[in-house]
Amino acid sequence: MKTIIEPFKIKSVEPIRFTSKEERKKILIDAGYNPFLIHADDVLIDLLTDSGTSAMSAKQWAGIMEGDESYAGSKSFYRFESAVKNITGHQYIIPTHQGRAAEKILFSITGGEGKYIPNNTHFDTTRANIEFTGAEAVDLLNETGKHPEQKADFKGDMDIDALVKFIDETGVKNIPMVMLTITNNSGGGQPVSMKNIKEVRQICDKYGIPMFLDACRFAENAYFIKKREPGYSDKSIIEICREMFSYSDGATMSAKKDALVNIGGFLSLNNEELATKCRNLLIVTEGFPTYGGLAGRDLEAVAQGLEEVVDEHYLQYRIRSTEYLGEKLVANGVPIIEPPGGHAIYIDAKRFLSHIPPHQYPGQSIVCELYIDGGVRTVEIGSVMFGKYDKKTGELIPPPMELVRLAIPRRVYTQSHIDYVSEVVIEAFKNREKLKGMEITYEAPMLRHFTARFRPID
Ligand code: F0G
Repeated sequence: MKTIIEPFKIKSVEPIRFTSKEERKKILIDAGYNPFLIHADDVLIDLLTDSGTSAMSAKQWAGIMEGDESYAGSKSFYRFESAVKNITGHQYIIPTHQGRAAEKILFSITGGEGKYIPNNTHFDTTRANIEFTGAEAVDLLNETGKHPEQKADFKGDMDIDALVKFIDETGVKNIPMVMLTITNNSGGGQPVSMKNIKEVRQICDKYGIPMFLDACRFAENAYFIKKREPGYSDKSIIEICREMFSYSDGATMSAKKDALVNIGGFLSLNNEELATKCRNLLIVTEGFPTYGGLAGRDLEAVAQGLEEVVDEHYLQYRIRSTEYLGEKLVANGVPIIEPPGGHAIYIDAKRFLSHIPPHQYPGQSIVCELYIDGGVRTVEIGSVMFGKYDKKTGELIPPPMELVRLAIPRRVYTQSHIDYVSEVVIEAFKNREKLKGMEITYEAPMLRHFTARFRPID
Protein backbone atom coordinates (compact mmCIF):
# COMPACT_ATOMS: atom_id res chain seq x y z
CA MET A 1 0.00 0.00 0.00
CA LYS A 2 1.29 3.46 -0.92
CA THR A 3 1.41 6.46 1.44
CA ILE A 4 -2.03 7.89 2.19
CA ILE A 5 -1.74 11.49 1.05
CA GLU A 6 -3.58 14.70 1.89
CA PRO A 7 -6.48 14.64 -0.61
CA PHE A 8 -6.11 18.34 -1.48
CA LYS A 9 -3.67 20.88 -2.86
CA ILE A 10 -2.91 24.03 -0.89
CA LYS A 11 -4.13 27.25 -2.48
CA SER A 12 -3.81 29.74 0.33
CA VAL A 13 -1.30 29.58 3.17
CA GLU A 14 -1.11 31.14 6.60
CA PRO A 15 2.42 31.64 7.99
CA ILE A 16 3.15 30.35 11.48
CA ARG A 17 5.45 32.32 13.75
CA PHE A 18 8.62 30.79 15.14
CA THR A 19 9.76 31.73 18.64
CA SER A 20 12.82 30.66 20.63
CA LYS A 21 12.67 28.38 23.65
CA GLU A 22 13.73 31.32 25.84
CA GLU A 23 10.87 33.43 24.47
CA ARG A 24 8.39 30.64 25.08
CA LYS A 25 9.53 30.20 28.68
CA LYS A 26 8.79 33.86 29.31
CA ILE A 27 5.47 33.74 27.43
CA LEU A 28 4.39 30.75 29.53
CA ILE A 29 5.39 32.38 32.83
CA ASP A 30 3.42 35.51 31.84
CA ALA A 31 0.43 33.27 31.05
CA GLY A 32 0.61 31.62 34.50
CA TYR A 33 1.63 28.31 32.87
CA ASN A 34 -1.81 28.10 31.25
CA PRO A 35 -1.69 27.83 27.43
CA PHE A 36 -5.33 29.01 27.21
CA LEU A 37 -3.92 32.43 28.16
CA ILE A 38 -1.25 32.53 25.42
CA HIS A 39 -1.74 34.57 22.25
CA ALA A 40 -2.32 32.16 19.35
CA ASP A 41 0.35 34.05 17.45
CA ASP A 42 2.92 32.71 19.93
CA VAL A 43 1.94 29.10 19.13
CA LEU A 44 3.71 27.16 16.39
CA ILE A 45 1.37 24.17 16.09
CA ASP A 46 -2.01 24.56 17.74
CA LEU A 47 -3.60 21.29 18.89
CA LEU A 48 -5.81 22.90 21.53
CA THR A 49 -8.97 21.83 19.71
CA ASP A 50 -10.35 20.49 16.44
CA SER A 51 -13.38 22.75 16.90
CA GLY A 52 -13.84 25.65 14.50
CA THR A 53 -10.24 25.28 13.37
CA SER A 54 -10.82 23.51 10.03
CA ALA A 55 -9.46 24.83 6.75
CA MET A 56 -12.36 25.53 4.40
CA SER A 57 -12.29 24.45 0.77
CA ALA A 58 -12.35 26.72 -2.28
CA LYS A 59 -16.00 25.70 -2.75
CA GLN A 60 -16.84 26.68 0.81
CA TRP A 61 -15.22 30.09 0.32
CA ALA A 62 -17.15 30.44 -2.93
CA GLY A 63 -20.29 29.61 -0.94
CA ILE A 64 -19.45 32.46 1.42
CA MET A 65 -19.81 34.87 -1.51
CA GLU A 66 -23.06 33.18 -2.53
CA GLY A 67 -24.54 33.62 0.96
CA ASP A 68 -28.04 35.09 0.93
CA GLU A 69 -28.37 37.43 3.89
CA SER A 70 -32.17 37.79 3.80
CA TYR A 71 -33.61 37.85 7.30
CA ALA A 72 -36.37 35.37 6.46
CA GLY A 73 -36.47 32.54 3.94
CA SER A 74 -32.88 32.96 2.73
CA LYS A 75 -31.89 30.66 -0.13
CA SER A 76 -28.82 29.67 1.90
CA PHE A 77 -31.10 28.29 4.61
CA TYR A 78 -32.83 26.00 2.14
CA ARG A 79 -29.50 24.71 0.86
CA PHE A 80 -28.39 24.13 4.47
CA GLU A 81 -31.66 22.43 5.40
CA SER A 82 -31.47 20.10 2.44
CA ALA A 83 -27.81 19.18 3.18
CA VAL A 84 -28.68 18.36 6.81
CA LYS A 85 -31.78 16.36 5.82
CA ASN A 86 -29.75 14.46 3.23
CA ILE A 87 -27.55 13.06 6.00
CA THR A 88 -29.82 12.89 9.06
CA GLY A 89 -33.17 12.17 7.43
CA HIS A 90 -34.66 14.25 10.27
CA GLN A 91 -37.67 16.39 9.40
CA TYR A 92 -37.19 19.64 11.33
CA ILE A 93 -33.84 21.38 10.96
CA ILE A 94 -33.03 24.28 13.27
CA PRO A 95 -29.79 26.21 12.70
CA THR A 96 -27.85 27.42 15.76
CA HIS A 97 -24.60 29.34 16.13
CA GLN A 98 -22.80 26.32 17.58
CA GLY A 99 -23.35 22.99 19.30
CA ARG A 100 -23.96 24.27 22.81
CA ALA A 101 -26.70 26.60 21.57
CA ALA A 102 -28.58 23.56 20.21
CA GLU A 103 -28.03 21.85 23.58
CA LYS A 104 -29.26 24.89 25.51
CA ILE A 105 -32.51 25.00 23.52
CA LEU A 106 -33.14 21.25 23.63
CA PHE A 107 -32.52 20.86 27.36
CA SER A 108 -34.33 24.05 28.35
CA ILE A 109 -37.44 22.33 27.01
CA THR A 110 -36.81 18.69 27.91
CA GLY A 111 -34.69 19.00 31.09
CA GLY A 112 -35.54 20.31 34.57
CA GLU A 113 -35.45 19.17 38.23
CA GLY A 114 -35.85 15.43 38.71
CA LYS A 115 -34.93 14.55 35.11
CA TYR A 116 -31.99 12.34 34.11
CA ILE A 117 -30.26 12.15 30.73
CA PRO A 118 -27.94 9.18 30.11
CA ASN A 119 -25.17 9.26 27.49
CA ASN A 120 -22.07 7.17 26.75
CA THR A 121 -20.10 10.19 28.03
CA HIS A 122 -21.49 13.71 28.07
CA PHE A 123 -19.23 16.39 26.67
CA ASP A 124 -18.71 19.17 29.24
CA THR A 125 -21.03 21.73 27.56
CA THR A 126 -23.73 19.08 27.22
CA ARG A 127 -23.40 18.20 30.89
CA ALA A 128 -23.38 21.90 31.84
CA ASN A 129 -26.49 22.65 29.80
CA ILE A 130 -28.35 19.70 31.32
CA GLU A 131 -27.28 20.53 34.88
CA PHE A 132 -28.14 24.21 34.37
CA THR A 133 -31.81 23.16 34.07
CA GLY A 134 -31.61 21.19 37.33
CA ALA A 135 -31.53 17.80 35.53
CA GLU A 136 -28.76 15.24 35.96
CA ALA A 137 -26.33 14.14 33.25
CA VAL A 138 -25.40 10.46 33.62
CA ASP A 139 -22.44 8.71 31.93
CA LEU A 140 -22.90 5.00 31.14
CA LEU A 141 -19.73 4.14 29.22
CA ASN A 142 -18.80 0.48 28.72
CA GLU A 143 -15.99 -0.81 30.97
CA THR A 144 -13.28 -1.11 28.27
CA GLY A 145 -13.76 2.55 27.38
CA LYS A 146 -12.54 3.48 30.85
CA HIS A 147 -9.13 1.82 30.46
CA PRO A 148 -6.64 3.73 28.24
CA GLU A 149 -4.40 0.71 27.67
CA GLN A 150 -7.14 -1.76 26.69
CA LYS A 151 -7.58 -2.00 22.93
CA ALA A 152 -11.02 -2.48 21.40
CA ASP A 153 -12.76 -1.41 18.19
CA PHE A 154 -15.65 0.49 19.73
CA LYS A 155 -14.57 1.91 23.06
CA GLY A 156 -17.26 4.60 22.78
CA ASP A 157 -20.15 2.10 23.16
CA MET A 158 -22.72 2.60 25.86
CA ASP A 159 -22.99 -0.07 28.58
CA ILE A 160 -26.33 -1.59 27.57
CA ASP A 161 -26.90 -3.52 30.83
CA ALA A 162 -26.18 -0.39 32.82
CA LEU A 163 -28.69 1.53 30.68
CA VAL A 164 -31.48 -1.00 31.29
CA LYS A 165 -30.71 -1.05 35.01
CA PHE A 166 -30.63 2.74 35.09
CA ILE A 167 -34.01 3.08 33.34
CA ASP A 168 -35.61 0.48 35.64
CA GLU A 169 -34.31 2.20 38.75
CA THR A 170 -34.97 5.78 37.66
CA GLY A 171 -38.35 5.35 35.97
CA VAL A 172 -39.21 6.08 32.36
CA LYS A 173 -41.08 9.29 33.14
CA ASN A 174 -37.92 10.88 34.55
CA ILE A 175 -35.84 10.20 31.43
CA PRO A 176 -36.70 12.62 28.60
CA MET A 177 -34.13 11.07 26.26
CA VAL A 178 -31.12 8.80 25.95
CA MET A 179 -28.13 10.29 24.11
CA LEU A 180 -25.13 8.83 22.32
CA THR A 181 -22.08 10.96 21.55
CA ILE A 182 -20.50 9.92 18.24
CA THR A 183 -17.55 9.79 18.47
CA ASN A 184 -17.11 9.91 22.23
CA ASN A 185 -14.93 13.00 22.67
CA SER A 186 -14.52 12.92 26.46
CA GLY A 187 -13.71 9.21 26.29
CA GLY A 188 -10.83 9.60 23.82
CA GLY A 189 -12.58 10.25 20.48
CA GLN A 190 -13.58 6.59 20.43
CA PRO A 191 -16.29 5.39 18.02
CA VAL A 192 -19.68 3.86 18.81
CA SER A 193 -20.65 0.74 16.82
CA MET A 194 -23.80 0.48 14.73
CA LYS A 195 -24.66 -2.57 16.85
CA ASN A 196 -24.59 -0.40 19.97
CA ILE A 197 -26.62 2.40 18.34
CA LYS A 198 -29.23 -0.20 17.32
CA GLU A 199 -29.31 -1.77 20.78
CA VAL A 200 -29.80 1.61 22.44
CA ARG A 201 -32.63 2.26 19.96
CA GLN A 202 -34.27 -1.07 20.81
CA ILE A 203 -34.18 -0.28 24.52
CA CYS A 204 -35.55 3.20 23.89
CA ASP A 205 -38.37 1.65 21.82
CA LYS A 206 -39.15 -0.85 24.55
CA TYR A 207 -39.51 1.90 27.15
CA GLY A 208 -40.86 4.62 24.83
CA ILE A 209 -37.94 7.03 25.36
CA PRO A 210 -36.63 9.24 22.52
CA MET A 211 -33.03 8.65 21.37
CA PHE A 212 -30.73 11.55 20.42
CA LEU A 213 -27.27 11.72 18.91
CA ASP A 214 -24.62 14.26 19.82
CA ALA A 215 -23.43 14.13 16.24
CA CYS A 216 -20.40 16.49 16.20
CA ARG A 217 -18.07 13.86 14.71
CA PHE A 218 -20.63 11.68 12.92
CA ALA A 219 -18.58 11.23 9.73
CA GLU A 220 -15.48 10.07 11.64
CA ASN A 221 -17.71 7.62 13.53
CA ALA A 222 -19.16 6.33 10.25
CA TYR A 223 -15.66 5.75 8.85
CA PHE A 224 -14.70 3.62 11.87
CA ILE A 225 -17.89 1.57 11.37
CA LYS A 226 -16.97 1.01 7.72
CA LYS A 227 -13.45 -0.11 8.62
CA ARG A 228 -14.14 -2.11 11.76
CA GLU A 229 -17.68 -3.42 11.91
CA PRO A 230 -18.67 -6.62 10.07
CA GLY A 231 -21.12 -6.00 7.22
CA TYR A 232 -20.20 -2.37 6.54
CA SER A 233 -17.05 -2.48 4.40
CA ASP A 234 -19.01 -2.29 1.14
CA LYS A 235 -21.37 0.45 2.26
CA SER A 236 -20.71 4.09 1.38
CA ILE A 237 -20.09 6.60 4.16
CA ILE A 238 -23.32 8.43 3.42
CA GLU A 239 -25.27 5.15 3.67
CA ILE A 240 -23.67 4.44 7.03
CA CYS A 241 -24.41 7.98 8.24
CA ARG A 242 -28.04 7.67 7.20
CA GLU A 243 -28.35 4.36 8.99
CA MET A 244 -26.84 5.80 12.21
CA PHE A 245 -29.24 8.74 12.17
CA SER A 246 -32.21 6.53 11.21
CA TYR A 247 -32.18 5.04 14.72
CA SER A 248 -32.41 8.49 16.32
CA ASP A 249 -35.27 10.89 16.96
CA GLY A 250 -33.05 13.93 16.82
CA ALA A 251 -29.51 15.26 17.03
CA THR A 252 -27.46 18.15 18.32
CA MET A 253 -24.56 19.15 16.14
CA SER A 254 -21.54 21.42 16.32
CA ALA A 255 -20.77 22.16 12.68
CA LYS A 256 -17.35 23.35 13.91
CA LYS A 257 -16.24 19.72 13.78
CA ASP A 258 -17.60 17.47 11.02
CA ALA A 259 -19.14 20.21 8.88
CA LEU A 260 -15.65 21.64 8.31
CA VAL A 261 -16.55 25.23 9.22
CA ASN A 262 -15.35 27.83 11.71
CA ILE A 263 -18.77 28.50 13.22
CA GLY A 264 -22.21 26.87 13.13
CA GLY A 265 -24.42 24.11 14.44
CA PHE A 266 -27.91 22.71 14.37
CA LEU A 267 -30.63 20.85 16.17
CA SER A 268 -32.48 18.31 14.04
CA LEU A 269 -35.73 16.70 15.17
CA ASN A 270 -38.55 14.43 14.07
CA ASN A 271 -41.15 15.48 16.64
CA GLU A 272 -43.21 18.40 15.35
CA GLU A 273 -44.42 19.59 18.73
CA LEU A 274 -40.89 19.62 20.15
CA ALA A 275 -39.62 21.38 17.00
CA THR A 276 -42.23 24.13 17.42
CA LYS A 277 -41.21 24.69 21.04
CA CYS A 278 -37.52 24.72 20.09
CA ARG A 279 -38.12 27.21 17.27
CA ASN A 280 -39.99 29.52 19.63
CA LEU A 281 -37.07 29.49 22.02
CA LEU A 282 -34.64 29.86 19.12
CA ILE A 283 -36.30 33.14 18.15
CA VAL A 284 -35.71 34.48 21.67
CA THR A 285 -32.06 33.48 21.96
CA GLU A 286 -30.56 32.80 18.52
CA GLY A 287 -32.65 34.36 15.78
CA PHE A 288 -35.35 33.69 13.21
CA PRO A 289 -35.66 29.97 12.32
CA THR A 290 -34.11 30.39 8.87
CA TYR A 291 -30.81 31.71 10.20
CA GLY A 292 -30.62 30.86 13.92
CA GLY A 293 -27.67 32.97 14.98
CA LEU A 294 -25.69 32.50 11.77
CA ALA A 295 -25.12 34.61 8.68
CA GLY A 296 -26.49 33.26 5.39
CA ARG A 297 -22.90 32.74 4.23
CA ASP A 298 -22.20 30.51 7.25
CA LEU A 299 -25.16 28.31 6.27
CA GLU A 300 -23.70 27.96 2.76
CA ALA A 301 -20.32 26.90 4.15
CA VAL A 302 -21.96 24.30 6.43
CA ALA A 303 -24.01 22.88 3.53
CA GLN A 304 -20.88 22.51 1.40
CA GLY A 305 -18.83 21.13 4.31
CA LEU A 306 -21.41 18.42 4.97
CA GLU A 307 -20.97 17.24 1.38
CA GLU A 308 -17.18 17.20 1.63
CA VAL A 309 -16.89 15.49 5.01
CA VAL A 310 -18.50 12.24 3.84
CA ASP A 311 -15.91 11.84 1.08
CA GLU A 312 -14.08 8.61 1.75
CA HIS A 313 -10.67 9.91 0.62
CA TYR A 314 -11.00 12.77 3.05
CA LEU A 315 -11.96 10.46 5.93
CA GLN A 316 -9.22 7.98 5.11
CA TYR A 317 -6.65 10.78 5.28
CA ARG A 318 -8.26 12.25 8.39
CA ILE A 319 -8.37 9.07 10.46
CA ARG A 320 -4.98 7.94 9.16
CA SER A 321 -3.25 11.19 10.18
CA THR A 322 -4.45 10.77 13.76
CA GLU A 323 -3.49 7.10 13.76
CA TYR A 324 -0.07 7.97 12.25
CA LEU A 325 0.72 10.27 15.16
CA GLY A 326 -0.49 7.62 17.62
CA GLU A 327 1.68 4.92 16.02
CA LYS A 328 4.82 7.05 16.25
CA LEU A 329 4.20 7.78 19.91
CA VAL A 330 3.42 4.16 20.81
CA ALA A 331 6.53 2.95 18.95
CA ASN A 332 8.58 5.19 21.25
CA GLY A 333 6.89 3.97 24.41
CA VAL A 334 4.67 7.04 24.97
CA PRO A 335 1.51 5.89 26.78
CA ILE A 336 -1.70 6.99 24.99
CA ILE A 337 -5.33 5.93 24.87
CA GLU A 338 -5.32 3.00 22.47
CA PRO A 339 -6.33 2.61 19.75
CA PRO A 340 -6.13 6.27 18.62
CA GLY A 341 -9.51 8.00 18.30
CA GLY A 342 -10.79 9.99 15.33
CA HIS A 343 -9.91 13.59 16.03
CA ALA A 344 -7.20 13.47 18.68
CA ILE A 345 -4.47 11.59 20.48
CA TYR A 346 -4.84 11.45 24.23
CA ILE A 347 -1.62 11.03 26.22
CA ASP A 348 -2.08 9.05 29.43
CA ALA A 349 -0.37 11.47 31.83
CA LYS A 350 -0.61 9.07 34.79
CA ARG A 351 1.68 6.57 33.09
CA PHE A 352 3.78 9.24 31.33
CA LEU A 353 4.64 10.97 34.63
CA SER A 354 4.19 8.23 37.22
CA HIS A 355 6.28 10.26 39.70
CA ILE A 356 3.77 13.14 39.75
CA PRO A 357 0.53 12.50 41.69
CA PRO A 358 -2.84 13.78 40.40
CA HIS A 359 -2.95 16.65 42.91
CA GLN A 360 0.22 17.99 41.30
CA TYR A 361 -1.43 17.98 37.86
CA PRO A 362 0.80 15.73 35.71
CA GLY A 363 -1.18 16.59 32.57
CA GLN A 364 -0.56 20.31 33.02
CA SER A 365 3.14 19.63 33.43
CA ILE A 366 3.22 17.82 30.05
CA VAL A 367 1.16 20.57 28.38
CA CYS A 368 3.74 23.15 29.57
CA GLU A 369 6.72 21.07 28.45
CA LEU A 370 5.28 20.57 24.93
CA TYR A 371 4.81 24.31 24.61
CA ILE A 372 8.23 25.29 25.97
CA ASP A 373 10.15 22.68 24.01
CA GLY A 374 8.28 22.82 20.70
CA GLY A 375 5.71 25.62 20.68
CA VAL A 376 2.97 22.97 20.50
CA ARG A 377 -0.26 23.89 22.29
CA THR A 378 -2.34 21.05 23.77
CA VAL A 379 -4.90 20.79 26.58
CA GLU A 380 -5.03 19.01 29.92
CA ILE A 381 -8.11 16.82 30.41
CA GLY A 382 -7.66 15.58 33.95
CA SER A 383 -7.60 17.01 37.45
CA VAL A 384 -7.29 20.62 36.25
CA MET A 385 -10.38 20.35 34.04
CA PHE A 386 -12.51 17.90 36.01
CA GLY A 387 -11.02 17.75 39.52
CA LYS A 388 -13.41 18.57 42.37
CA TYR A 389 -12.69 19.46 45.98
CA ASP A 390 -14.00 17.40 48.88
CA LYS A 391 -16.41 19.75 50.68
CA LYS A 392 -15.25 18.58 54.13
CA THR A 393 -11.49 18.06 53.78
CA GLY A 394 -10.84 20.45 50.87
CA GLU A 395 -8.76 17.72 49.22
CA LEU A 396 -8.75 17.24 45.46
CA ILE A 397 -10.95 14.42 44.16
CA PRO A 398 -9.29 13.54 40.84
CA PRO A 399 -11.27 12.20 37.82
CA PRO A 400 -10.55 8.60 36.71
CA MET A 401 -8.06 9.62 34.00
CA GLU A 402 -5.28 12.23 33.69
CA LEU A 403 -5.01 13.01 29.97
CA VAL A 404 -3.42 15.48 27.59
CA ARG A 405 -5.33 15.92 24.33
CA LEU A 406 -3.61 16.60 21.03
CA ALA A 407 -6.61 17.53 18.88
CA ILE A 408 -5.92 17.68 15.17
CA PRO A 409 -7.58 20.49 13.19
CA ARG A 410 -9.12 19.27 9.93
CA ARG A 411 -7.14 19.81 6.68
CA VAL A 412 -4.78 22.26 8.42
CA TYR A 413 -1.48 20.49 9.14
CA THR A 414 0.62 18.34 6.81
CA GLN A 415 2.47 15.12 7.54
CA SER A 416 5.68 17.00 8.41
CA HIS A 417 3.80 19.09 10.97
CA ILE A 418 2.61 15.84 12.53
CA ASP A 419 6.15 14.38 12.39
CA TYR A 420 7.39 17.46 14.21
CA VAL A 421 4.69 17.09 16.90
CA SER A 422 5.68 13.46 17.45
CA GLU A 423 9.33 14.51 17.87
CA VAL A 424 8.37 17.09 20.49
CA VAL A 425 6.27 14.59 22.47
CA ILE A 426 8.93 11.86 22.27
CA GLU A 427 11.58 14.31 23.47
CA ALA A 428 9.38 15.30 26.42
CA PHE A 429 8.89 11.61 27.21
CA LYS A 430 12.66 11.03 27.21
CA ASN A 431 13.06 13.93 29.65
CA ARG A 432 10.07 12.94 31.78
CA GLU A 433 12.08 12.42 34.98
CA LYS A 434 12.99 16.11 34.91
CA LEU A 435 9.39 17.33 34.70
CA LYS A 436 7.92 18.79 37.87
CA GLY A 437 4.45 18.84 39.34
CA MET A 438 2.41 22.05 39.34
CA GLU A 439 0.38 23.94 41.90
CA ILE A 440 -2.53 26.29 41.29
CA THR A 441 -2.01 29.92 42.35
CA TYR A 442 -5.38 31.23 41.10
CA GLU A 443 -8.63 29.53 40.12
CA ALA A 444 -12.15 30.63 39.23
CA PRO A 445 -15.08 28.91 41.02
CA MET A 446 -16.35 27.28 37.78
CA LEU A 447 -14.64 25.90 34.64
CA ARG A 448 -11.34 26.78 36.24
CA HIS A 449 -9.14 25.31 33.48
CA PHE A 450 -9.76 28.29 31.19
CA THR A 451 -8.30 30.92 33.51
CA ALA A 452 -6.34 29.11 36.26
CA ARG A 453 -2.74 30.14 36.93
CA PHE A 454 -0.02 27.71 38.02
CA ARG A 455 3.57 27.47 39.15
CA PRO A 456 5.98 24.52 39.06
CA ILE A 457 6.70 22.83 42.39
CA ASP A 458 10.40 22.66 43.28
N1 F0G B 1 -20.50 17.90 21.93
C1 F0G B 1 -19.24 17.44 21.74
C2 F0G B 1 -19.00 15.97 21.70
C3 F0G B 1 -18.17 18.34 21.59
O1 F0G B 1 -16.94 17.87 21.40
C4 F0G B 1 -18.44 19.74 21.61
C5 F0G B 1 -17.34 20.71 21.49
C6 F0G B 1 -19.76 20.17 21.79
C7 F0G B 1 -20.76 19.22 21.95
C8 F0G B 1 -20.12 21.63 21.85
O2 F0G B 1 -20.02 22.22 20.61
O3 F0G B 1 -18.24 23.95 20.89
O4 F0G B 1 -19.87 24.05 18.99
O5 F0G B 1 -20.61 24.54 21.29
N2 F0G B 1 -16.13 20.41 21.64
C9 F0G B 1 -14.97 21.28 21.50
C10 F0G B 1 -13.70 20.55 21.88
C11 F0G B 1 -15.09 22.61 22.18
O6 F0G B 1 -12.63 21.19 21.95
O7 F0G B 1 -13.76 19.32 22.06
P1 F0G B 1 -19.66 23.78 20.44
